[in-house]
Amino acid sequence: MLDRRAVLHALFAAPAAILAGSRRAEASAGPCLPTASDVAGPFYLPGAPRRLDLAAAGESGDRIAIRGRVLSSDCRTGVAGALLDVWQADAKGEYHGKDEQYRLRGQILTGPDGTYEIHSIRPGNYRQENGWRPAHIHFTISAPGHEPVTTQLYFRGDPYLAPHDSCGSECHSDDAHRIVALEPEKGRLMGRFDVTLKKG
Ligand SMILES: [Fe+2]
Repeated sequence: MLDRRAVLHALFAAPAAILAGSRRAEASAGPCLPTASDVAGPFYLPGAPRRLDLAAAGESGDRIAIRGRVLSSDCRTGVAGALLDVWQADAKGEYHGKDEQYRLRGQILTGPDGTYEIHSIRPGNYRQENGWRPAHIHFTISAPGHEPVTTQLYFRGDPYLAPHDSCGSECHSDDAHRIVALEPEKGRLMGRFDVTLKKG
């Protein structure tokens, strides 16, 4: 387990690691805009292995699948070979590191049409100094010819979505495009998350 206390100071003392990006106010009905960036937080680790399933067989929690496409700036053209670097907390809200085989971390490449799929468990909420964060999964998505984006995916119905997010105005858990509804599918919960990258 990573020591959250050791990094809380860094989280609040350092400027928010927010990358430039526009926010999409509406989901599929909204205008075509790049997926918005969000706070990276202190728990990213480089070097996570390539794998479809971030959760080992014994990992506790509700099994989920996140499925979607990485799209170019026209919001239609799939980006082949885009890299999704993904990290999340466990069901109790704890992050884990290299010494636990990069538990709940992984890298996934999109297919020829830009599609990807991730299997994991639903992360738990975790407490910060001033309240609770909504459950979330961190992503950094990069692809040749496009600007990388670091963002977070949230879950519909979470009681700590903004304006109740302890991250306050630094995070953007009110971005409808990044709030995913989970629906039962084949013994797990499935959510859809499409990402639009800005050409660069
Ligand atoms: Fe986080």
